[in-house]
Amino acid sequence: MKALIERLPKVELHLHIEGTLEPSLMLELAERNQIQLPYQNLKEVQAAYQFTDLQSFLDLYYLGAGVLVTEDDFYTLMLSYLRRAAAENIVHCEVMFDPQTHLLRGIGFEIFMPGFVKAIAEAERLFGVTTYLILCFLRDMSEDSALEALRLAQPFQRHIKAIGLDSAEIGHPPSKFKNAFAQGAQSGYRCVAHAGEEGGPEMIKEALEQLKVERIDHGVQCIQDDELRRDLARRKIPLTVCPLSNVKLRVFPDMESHPLLMLLKEGLNVTVNSDDPAYFGGYLTENFLAAYEALSFDEQQLRQLLDNAIRSSFLPPDHKERLVDQVW
Ligand code: ADE
Ligand code: ZN
Repeated sequence: MKALIERLPKVELHLHIEGTLEPSLMLELAERNQIQLPYQNLKEVQAAYQFTDLQSFLDLYYLGAGVLVTEDDFYTLMLSYLRRAAAENIVHCEVMFDPQTHLLRGIGFEIFMPGFVKAIAEAERLFGVTTYLILCFLRDMSEDSALEALRLAQPFQRHIKAIGLDSAEIGHPPSKFKNAFAQGAQSGYRCVAHAGEEGGPEMIKEALEQLKVERIDHGVQCIQDDELRRDLARRKIPLTVCPLSNVKLRVFPDMESHPLLMLLKEGLNVTVNSDDPAYFGGYLTENFLAAYEALSFDEQQLRQLLDNAIRSSFLPPDHKERLVDQVW
């Protein structure tokens, strides 16, 4: 099974590029850009990676993102990730980024977007991996700030496939961003949102009803609502589930308690993803392996998870069909 997981073509739908910042690159960029971090060495950074909930992780994640300053930093971050992704047979990824995190530090789209775009083109040429970008709004900021990010993204819109919603969920319901999503959809962006990670099933319902999103990122709290699960299964709504993230952020106490397989058996359109792999102890293959070791899905179920991810991507239909053929 391990060999099969490694060998089969995979698609990543839930990955924050800022969450791929490895401790070694964090320290290197901090030194180069003269950013003070509260850590002196790799051991100290790694020791800080003990999280009690989503907020405890986000505090460190935003601190880490502060070392990204130049176009070349964003290029290096993206190319390092895509090189690694291609090495584990990821053939397509839809990568999220958090513009407001950078705008707040005076770093604009004209800095990070050329870095991302150059790395994405190079990775496709060198490794054959295709990449779409998803611009995420920070839900603990105002809707006006999200609208401003959308406005600033305009000159780069041809490089951005979708908009999303991330950061602290509790107290920041999807309805807060109804206008930003309506405007984004009107401009031609596809729509996704984090919902039901720490927040309850009502967050998932709101994201679907009010933001009209096509995919739910995480969505695992649908386990609390039988009717919602039946609705998600009937409508084939993709859930981009992140097993290692959920255990690391204590959404579930251990991998054995993770509902991934239960949801798959109930006919939900679940996919496996890595969220913030540099912080959560594993990239996509490791997420599949950890879930397999604890839940032991069979070969058919593995292929179904991969098939779900391909079909739930924003790739054109003919490209999806070519990839699906390689999975079965
Ligand atoms: N930003 C990066 N990772 C996130 C997660 N798991 N939930 C919400 N916001 C995030
Ligand atoms: Zn996420």
